Amino acid sequence: RIAYVNGQFVRHGEAVVHIEDRGYQLADAVYEVWALFGGKLADAEGHFARLERSLSELRIPMPMSRQALTIVLREAVRRNRVSEGLLYLQVGRGVAPRGHAFPDQPTAPSVVITVSAVDRTAAEAKAAKGVKVITTPEDRWGRCDIKTVGLLPNALAKQAAKEQGAAEAWFVDELGLVTEGASSNAWIIDGDGVVRTRDTNANILRGVTRHTLLDVLHDEGLKFEERPFTPDEAVAAKEAFITGAGSLVLPVIAVNNRPVGDGKVGPVAMKLRRLYIERAK
Ligand code: PDD
Repeated sequence: RIAYVNGQFVRHGEAVVHIEDRGYQLADAVYEVWALFGGKLADAEGHFARLERSLSELRIPMPMSRQALTIVLREAVRRNRVSEGLLYLQVGRGVAPRGHAFPDQPTAPSVVITVSAVDRTAAEAKAAKGVKVITTPEDRWGRCDIKTVGLLPNALAKQAAKEQGAAEAWFVDELGLVTEGASSNAWIIDGDGVVRTRDTNANILRGVTRHTLLDVLHDEGLKFEERPFTPDEAVAAKEAFITGAGSLVLPVIAVNNRPVGDGKVGPVAMKLRRLYIERAK
């Protein structure tokens, strides 16, 4: 495997960052994950747009133009000879002696890229079986719209899910409504057949997969609504699923071990998975 670190392609096992990188000390860095289909970046523009927005919210400059970055990302994919996989890009404020406030002298942004392969056959088998989710109280900061590497609450929630045999944890806010998953957006298909996901005015990440899937729903003439739901509504729903660059569209068959609908993988969710993948390819 080959990684990209601050201007150079190096062997993955030899790739290192500075001990005073602010991403490392303060999580002062943002990231993006692209799914790769046939070596091509899925939803390329959506992820670039969100990267630029995350960076501008933190007043970190783009390390290079979107055009130049595209070339570097493609080169990273090429050097890894990965066709089906994931590309991870992290951009941080850079290296400076430790201090909470921004360094007085502007630093060069830190840039790291890794590429990993995904077994699509295994992924399809997982989707065909569906996954379980658990719920956990929303305990993240108020700016989850920024895709920062400050992911400790997400990591703890995902670990709790894993320990309970679930693939994802859904955060639930003080009103009892699901915000999103630890690394995905949350959806249901309610009793009226309306496909529902929370609006992005709330404190959630504006999922790129979510956005593309809303286009798919529109084009397919399916009823959809951006409206939050409770875990009870998910259990009472016909289907549930999650979306993200890693999960794509993944059917959910249980919430806190309570079956969703009839407890079987939903046909609409599986159809949406297929339609999403066709569009992303
Ligand atoms: N996670 N919500 C959260 C908290 C996420 O971390 C992600 C993505 C999503 C889905 O966003 P998108 O559709 O743009 O991938 C929603 C990535 C895949 C990760 O952390 O690995």
